[in-house]
Amino acid sequence: ADLRPRNTFGVAARARRLIEVLDAAALPQALAALDADTRPLVIGGGSNLLFAGDAVDALAIVDARRSVVSDDGERVVVRAAAGADWHGFVLWTLAQELGGLENLALIPGTVGAAPIQNIGAYGVEVGEHVVAVEAFDQDTRNFVRLDRDACRFGYRDSIFKQVPDRWIVTAVEFALHRFAEPVLDYAGLRDVLSARGIGAPRPLDVAEAVIDIRRSKLPDPAVIGNAGSFFKNPIVPAAQAAALVAAHAGIPVFAVDEGLRKLSAAWLIDRCGWKGHRDGDAGVAPGHALVLVNHGHAQGTELLGLARRIAASVQMRFGVALEPEPKIVGAAW
Ligand code: EPU
Repeated sequence: ADLRPRNTFGVAARARRLIEVLDAAALPQALAALDADTRPLVIGGGSNLLFAGDAVDALAIVDARRSVVSDDGERVVVRAAAGADWHGFVLWTLAQELGGLENLALIPGTVGAAPIQNIGAYGVEVGEHVVAVEAFDQDTRNFVRLDRDACRFGYRDSIFKQVPDRWIVTAVEFALHRFAEPVLDYAGLRDVLSARGIGAPRPLDVAEAVIDIRRSKLPDPAVIGNAGSFFKNPIVPAAQAAALVAAHAGIPVFAVDEGLRKLSAAWLIDRCGWKGHRDGDAGVAPGHALVLVNHGHAQGTELLGLARRIAASVQMRFGVALEPEPKIVGAAW
């Protein structure tokens, strides 16, 4: 099967097999079609993948059902199957005036992929709202339910990344709230809302502001292939951050905890002169240094090569190692 339409970078890739599972209950039988110890690549929206190698065995969960699990008038638990489109699901929660996911509007991909890298934007990470993740455990061949603590969420991290290829996420339960307090930690979000004269924003107002910020900063994968941020924001010891601040005026630094600081990968890359750079069809977005783009027919290996050159230049200039955010399939970082 052709995987070009199934990755938002739009690079050429092939699946030896592509298994589509309508009902998660049928997963064990579906997996039986593969060799005994083959673990398939699970594809959601393909918005956090870079294909850079041979054909894979791929599996997609198509089930997109969603439901209300419980509602006490204030706290509402909703469940969505893995195949549900993330943004469509967020809009559905907002239409019911449930707050919690509004800062995560317009993130490409599926519900099932959301907990894997613990998607986060504009001051909120999805893990904060996860009650439990339902999954198929390929080690024990059982369906399991991992509560939020068991998911070990961190910045762009979870147990599903820490122990790769073990679980296939089948559904996620979220705790949402009527009368939720908005999270307005991100300065750019407060600015947009106050420019609109909105003093006490409802969740839908926040979502609309987030959508506009995203559209202004991030290239639309439907127009130009990309996978959002290509690198994670590096987390370094506070002493290293202090030395960087002393050496480089204006370098953004964010507190993580007492001993750790988060740096802006976009700023580091920008300072190395990469914004808008282009090698053939592999490039860096002109509007955001953290986003690699496919101008047309870039191969995954070309995008990977560009990413490595970017990381090497940041390492050389700032002594900071960048790690890719998307999953690289078929090649090592
Ligand atoms: N900046 C530059 N040059 C640029 C772009 C940004 O110097 O070309 C600097 C600016 O100083 C800016 C700072 O970088 O203030 C941070 O930029 P931005 O607010 O756009 O956030 P980010 O750190 O680049 C992260 C997430 C995004 C998320 C935004 C908003 C990661 C890896 N990325 O980006 O997530 O939308 O914050 O919260 O943490 C994604 O993961 O795919 C993604 C888009």
